[in-house]
Amino acid sequence: MARRIALRVLRAVPDGPGIRRLVLADPDGWPLPRWRPGAHIDLHLPNGLVRAYSLCGDPAEPRAWTVAVKREADSRGGSAWLHEALAEGDALEASAPRCTFPLAAEAVRHVFIAGGIGVTPFLPMALTLLRAGGDFRLHLLHRGPPPLADALAPLVAAGRAVLHDTEAAPRPALAELIGPPGQGVQAYACGPENLLDGFAEATADWLEGTAQVEHFHPPILPPDPDARPFTLVLARTGDEVALPAGADLVAAIRALGGAVDTSCEGGICGACRVRWLEGAPIHRDRVLRPAERATDLIACVAACAGGRLVLDL
Ligand code: FES
Repeated sequence: MARRIALRVLRAVPDGPGIRRLVLADPDGWPLPRWRPGAHIDLHLPNGLVRAYSLCGDPAEPRAWTVAVKREADSRGGSAWLHEALAEGDALEASAPRCTFPLAAEAVRHVFIAGGIGVTPFLPMALTLLRAGGDFRLHLLHRGPPPLADALAPLVAAGRAVLHDTEAAPRPALAELIGPPGQGVQAYACGPENLLDGFAEATADWLEGTAQVEHFHPPILPPDPDARPFTLVLARTGDEVALPAGADLVAAIRALGGAVDTSCEGGICGACRVRWLEGAPIHRDRVLRPAERATDLIACVAACAGGRLVLDL
């Protein structure tokens, strides 16, 4: 199981409609693990819930992590607890940062499309590109007052961010905001599913890997028709178990004594990433790139096309 990091809440302040910004630090003021723009952390709440949030502060600031929590109307105790029960000075545990939504290092122009609180991963990306003299444009679609307005203000003033209040004007066409594909152009989107669907449509003819998205909510996955019964083997202990098609791999790993973290339990956060050594895994996640799938799988959604599946656990 991955190490959890003990934190203290330095600040907890409102920062937009239904949004609470949390600034978290080591209890003794030590530097925190470094992170890349686009990274997120899992917050482990005392009620047992785990919630993932993008880091939205300054990656060059080693002593504080900032996240922005939107109070979900149908909260099951995650965002509601973070809004109503958590106070400045309280202790909180988190995972180390994981980056499943990185800046494309080879790109020369970046176009960010954000919906509401989906702007969070783009703030540290923008800061990093500003410092490096990178070329980017952020479009934020929001209804009413924008989230994290203070952090956005300098980007707007510099002409790098454009705010589109869809309560005040019709929603602009995403294809026009994104612009055409081109050599070295990378497009990104984060926000609600309807925005991501529109983004996927607008970038359907872009080269693979040049348009990337970050999901808030895991998709509903039907059973995979190629899944077959298989034998799961943990290589480090040699323990194995026969499983039916489509079995819950995380539960099976844990039943064999293996350690695997989970957060979203839907293939979008990467917490349950495991190396595999042998077999025919079926990948159903939205985290790994094709090259990464040659060595790793996302256990909470992976299945197996039969035979033996040997994990490096
Ligand atoms: S728990 Fe999030 S991808 Fe598996």
